[in-house]
Amino acid sequence: MPHANRRVFIKQYREGLPALDDFGIEEADIADVPAGHVVVKVDTLSMDAWIRTTLTPGSFHETAALGSTIRALGVGQVVESAADGLAAGDWVFGLLSAQTHALLPAAALTKLDLSNSLEPRDYVGPLGLTTGLTAWVGLIAVAEVHGGDTVLVSGAAGAVGSMVVQLAKARGARVIGIAGGPEKCRYLLETLGADVAIDYKNADVAAGVASAAPGGIDVFFDNVGGEILDIALENLAPANARIAICGAISQYSDMGNVRGPAKYLRLAERNAAMKGFVVTHHAARFPEAKAEIASLMEEGKVRLPEHVVDGIDNFAEALLLLFSGGHTGNLLVRP
Ligand SMILES: NC(=O)c1ccc[n+]([C@@H]2O[C@H](COP(=O)([O-])OP(=O)(O)OC[C@H]3O[C@@H](n4cnc5c(N)ncnc54)[C@H](OP(=O)(O)O)[C@@H]3O)[C@@H](O)[C@H]2O)c1
Repeated sequence: MPHANRRVFIKQYREGLPALDDFGIEEADIADVPAGHVVVKVDTLSMDAWIRTTLTPGSFHETAALGSTIRALGVGQVVESAADGLAAGDWVFGLLSAQTHALLPAAALTKLDLSNSLEPRDYVGPLGLTTGLTAWVGLIAVAEVHGGDTVLVSGAAGAVGSMVVQLAKARGARVIGIAGGPEKCRYLLETLGADVAIDYKNADVAAGVASAAPGGIDVFFDNVGGEILDIALENLAPANARIAICGAISQYSDMGNVRGPAKYLRLAERNAAMKGFVVTHHAARFPEAKAEIASLMEEGKVRLPEHVVDGIDNFAEALLLLFSGGHTGNLLVRP
């Protein structure tokens, strides 16, 4: 039986912030399911900053061809299978993309483990590749956080940032979060348990970090880049601080002119280390990460509040929220 698929595709590239008329929407049937393939009804898509970088030529994440469906990670349920190992009804994670139904090779999908009361949405939430696992890898595998550290997190009220704040607290660190606006700062303090929140849109961030961390920052988890990275470098602890470069969302809409850190010499002066990472390069540690996050979820020490946008037609609008700061926690689209 054909599956009616509604998809969002890219019509044109744009420097600067994307606009709604860069995207098109169309419906077409998935009629044939080749051997080794399955049809997945998309349940939830993870709205990630990397998606924006695919919408300009020369993307590290591979530029989307004009007319192609916007790529996005998500979870969904198999509704037809022509592959061994996956059957109708199975829940899967993969690059399902901005559409209601995905035709994909079974080999490109991961079957979800839904034991121990885990829900499919957890795999684009606390246990998601680009959310919880990214936070764990940057904080624990890369920055090697430990109890007593003072941890600074930028983009702290977003998906990755929310997880970093809670994982750092669970490991016994003191946590300073930076986010835009008083509501997000309240969220950092009251919902996530951060020790200090700095509103970068309304306060002097340099003064805020200096007064919140008089002894300096031991770990900086950077989601934002630009000026905030320089402020962190200026406020590093006298020795052995670690900076994990997770991303630089402040730079993604002008990738030809990325602003580098002016204060990088603080790394040498303070015997500090700055290291970038790609979450998938740390797959060997995912079982450890998943086990720790799942057990913190069970203890009620970690959760990832959601901002859900309904309807595939609202995918582009949802994507823009990442750049306007219009969501708190984990931004998801439910087609
Ligand atoms: N290295 C990896 O393997 C990996 C994997 C996944 C994600 N990442 C990175 O992790 C970061 C966070 O991603 P996410 O999906 O969790 O997004 P998110 O934090 O949920 O959403 C982005 C947030 O960034 C803030 N922001 C946007 N533009 C900004 C600007 N110009 N200056 C300061 N803040 C700005 C906004 O919050 P405010 O309201 O606070 O401004 C916005 O809510 C991104 O940089 C992403 O590329 C890296």
